[in-house]
Amino acid sequence: MAEKIQPIGTTPPALVNAAMGVFELLREYFEGAIMVDAQARITWIDARYRKLLGMPDDFEPLGRPVEDTLPNSMLRKVVETGRPILLDIMRIAERQLVVCRIPLKDDQGVVQGAIGFVFYDNVDYLEPIMKKVETLQKQLSRAQAALDRQRRTKYSLSNFVGVSDKVAELKSQIRRFALRDGPALLLGETGTGKELLAHAIHQASDRADGPFVAVNMAAIPEALLESEFFGVAPGAYTGAEKKPRKGKFELAHGGTLFLDEIGDMPLSIQAKFLRVLQEGEIEALGSNALKKVDVRIIAATSQDLEALMAARTFRADLYYRIAVLTIAVPPLRERAEDIEVICERLLEDIPRAGDMRGWIIEPDAVRLLQRYDWPGNVRELRNVLERAAAMAPDEVLDVGVIARAMPKLVNAAPRSIPETGHLAETLARAEREAILDALRKTEGQKTEAARLLGVSRSQFYEKLRRYDLGG
Ligand SMILES: Nc1ncnc2c1ncn2[C@@H]1O[C@H](COP(=O)(O)OP(=O)(O)OP(=O)(O)O)[C@@H](O)[C@H]1O
Ligand SMILES: [Mg+2]
Repeated sequence: MAEKIQPIGTTPPALVNAAMGVFELLREYFEGAIMVDAQARITWIDARYRKLLGMPDDFEPLGRPVEDTLPNSMLRKVVETGRPILLDIMRIAERQLVVCRIPLKDDQGVVQGAIGFVFYDNVDYLEPIMKKVETLQKQLSRAQAALDRQRRTKYSLSNFVGVSDKVAELKSQIRRFALRDGPALLLGETGTGKELLAHAIHQASDRADGPFVAVNMAAIPEALLESEFFGVAPGAYTGAEKKPRKGKFELAHGGTLFLDEIGDMPLSIQAKFLRVLQEGEIEALGSNALKKVDVRIIAATSQDLEALMAARTFRADLYYRIAVLTIAVPPLRERAEDIEVICERLLEDIPRAGDMRGWIIEPDAVRLLQRYDWPGNVRELRNVLERAAAMAPDEVLDVGVIARAMPKLVNAAPRSIPETGHLAETLARAEREAILDALRKTEGQKTEAARLLGVSRSQFYEKLRRYDLGG
């Protein structure tokens, strides 16, 4: 090894020489080597390593802290702990390199420096382990990306479509609530869009860049809820993971915690929950330390919380804490005029055969949908459309297909309320139907049809003109 050792650093010359001997001996097996003194300053670096790092010729690394050259070097740790890191993987300029680091100790066992070797990732015998690391790293980054996606909100207010006054009022209420930071409670029947609106509140709030973490109270067993919410300290109980696990509260720090189906929250958790809301601090299972958390609570339920309070399954103090801002989401049957635009939105998401341009729903079919009372609200509407799309021979969803896709008549119980509240319009529609019916029966004979209907010929012609049926 021709390179000269600079008289810098605190490593005693005897040790430096010993290290150089090792370098010389192993030269053909590694691709680069480095030496640091007890303060982790570079005392020597192999020319091949310089090249590998793309170090400019005029750059003098000697005497500088190792991190100036290798930002994620672990050599400082080796000199500080006196322990080697025999096998590790370091990333340099998008490359995975295998590294080996050994402390240099004097006769008294005092650390005087350290050496590091670098191996390329194509060294045969390292292939299995490199492959494994690569796979694990890919899995990790995929899982992290999925988590990030999950923690970001999927929906904004524009995803909640509707043209009715009720929806307009609801949206302006949501916008107002988003600007405030207190807890919000969404009440409404199943499938009305409460979860979508919870996302929308978060999105429109100052916390939009923070996480959105959802917990469905009905989906998690009571025994697990506490650790789910507050986390677990390492070794908290026999069989607990060694590593601490963050609870949803901590994960939602700086953002929003969405409590879905809050009516199903067990009483045992309610008291603990209330305390967190009051104190703004959590205590992980098995730890004695309190941690500050900054979280906005949005809760949702389709249950009658006041009835649950009366039955003593829901704590009144918790109710008053979360019901500061209450939003009632109206059921679909109370806003039939939204059905058309909601259908159009939902149909966008239903896959269609390659050559179809898009689903078309006929006006008669929409009118039929508007007469049903939708106990399952928008979710049920989506199911009906999916069924209809699967049955339709082409992209047109007509009244026949929709009728077949709807729940059986027993459940359907068509609403008796006319689609518009106006008596005159209802009568006009009935009259037009009667005229068409009479014309069908008389095979288009107008005089005969007029007689059937009990009106004069001139009256009959006048009605044909009025209803645009061709006089
Ligand atoms: N106004 C709307 N516009 C578009 N899509 C909607 C609308 N309302 C609801 N949806 C859709 O309907 C489905 C049901 O909505 P969501 O899950 O938010 O209901 P929910 O009130 O949380 O129901 P549950 O109480 O059963 O949990 C979702 O796919 C949602 O995107
Ligand atoms: Mg929901």
